[in-house]
Amino acid sequence: MDACEGIWRRLVDERRLPREDWRLLIAHAGPDLKEEARSLASAITRKRFGNAVWYRGIVEFTNNCRNDCLYCGVRRSNGSVRRYRLTHGEIVAACAGGHAAGMRTFVLQGGEDPAVSDAWLTELLSELRTRFPDSAVTLSLGERSRKSYESLFMAGASRYLLRHETADPAHYARLHPPAQSFSRRMACLRDLREIGYQTGCGMMIGSPGQGAEQLACDMAFIQEFRPHMIGMGPFLPHHATPFAHERPGDGETTLFLLSLCRIVLPDVLLPATTALRTLLPDGCARGVLAGCNVVMPSMTPETERSEYLLYDGKPVSGGVKETLAKLDAELSRIGCGLVSGRGDHPATRQQEGGTACRTADAAWRR
Ligand code: 5AD
Repeated sequence: MDACEGIWRRLVDERRLPREDWRLLIAHAGPDLKEEARSLASAITRKRFGNAVWYRGIVEFTNNCRNDCLYCGVRRSNGSVRRYRLTHGEIVAACAGGHAAGMRTFVLQGGEDPAVSDAWLTELLSELRTRFPDSAVTLSLGERSRKSYESLFMAGASRYLLRHETADPAHYARLHPPAQSFSRRMACLRDLREIGYQTGCGMMIGSPGQGAEQLACDMAFIQEFRPHMIGMGPFLPHHATPFAHERPGDGETTLFLLSLCRIVLPDVLLPATTALRTLLPDGCARGVLAGCNVVMPSMTPETERSEYLLYDGKPVSGGVKETLAKLDAELSRIGCGLVSGRGDHPATRQQEGGTACRTADAAWRR
């Protein structure tokens, strides 16, 4: 604690740090400081969001991907994956199941599938908006052109998740082939924000080549970019990737970083990710105790779920209702519980003076 006491005080007072201080804090924080961070993050979360945890249903609708990220199980060069793409009907049916279980945000996620055109997505979005007018749609489809992001926003998508993966360009090059560019990724994130999406970035914790210096870059980026959402979980190896034999990320470090994100951005939407829940049996509760306020269980049909294996051990079974019941039971042990609702970012909440989702809704009505 002692070595970092001054830096910690500065973080508590100013809610931001210079990059070098982030590095020192992350490299040298001991158990006491980590506990203090957890406790502050938890207090901030309870003050802002009470004991409520929002849940979103994620539909992993295509595992086709033109990219070759070295960590990812559905990377293009993995020939052992059975590739699938759900139809509109299958996606709408999955959302209907989620809606019946109280979900009011649908996250449409997929690899970068060249067959997923703007026209195809626009039609899907309009169907979802008509069928579920009380629900928000989040997209997580990787890098697309600004024009594409604009049309999808106009078609009614109000949020977009695009993890930056790492804010250190050299580290980015260690995790991705040369065809995938760090500056292009960052440009996409800036486009999404400018267009008006509630925008999410994020990184894996413990990816190969990552140390305190890289995480310090991530925290410095996050405090400048001020995303509405942060998707952050441990790196977990997948057997058919170049990182098959790398060590998985560490749970305590992941929880510490989640707490730091909550302290920097008190209003941020911060899921206890599937990867965290895969690594730690009580990962949802521990995530929430560290500052998380969202959980995103899968609504992907079980036959396809086993083919959307980004890392080994990802849960592939369980219906929506039983998964929600399990999560709710886990949360009730720490005095929290799942609540139904769109769960917009406080600064952009509908009816309450926000602009982003109002704009998306207005655009869709036109
Ligand atoms: N371990 C943990 N997270 C992973 N992702 C992809 N592969 C892995 C892995 N092996 C994450 C990436 C991506 C998100 C959809 O899943 O950060 O952005």
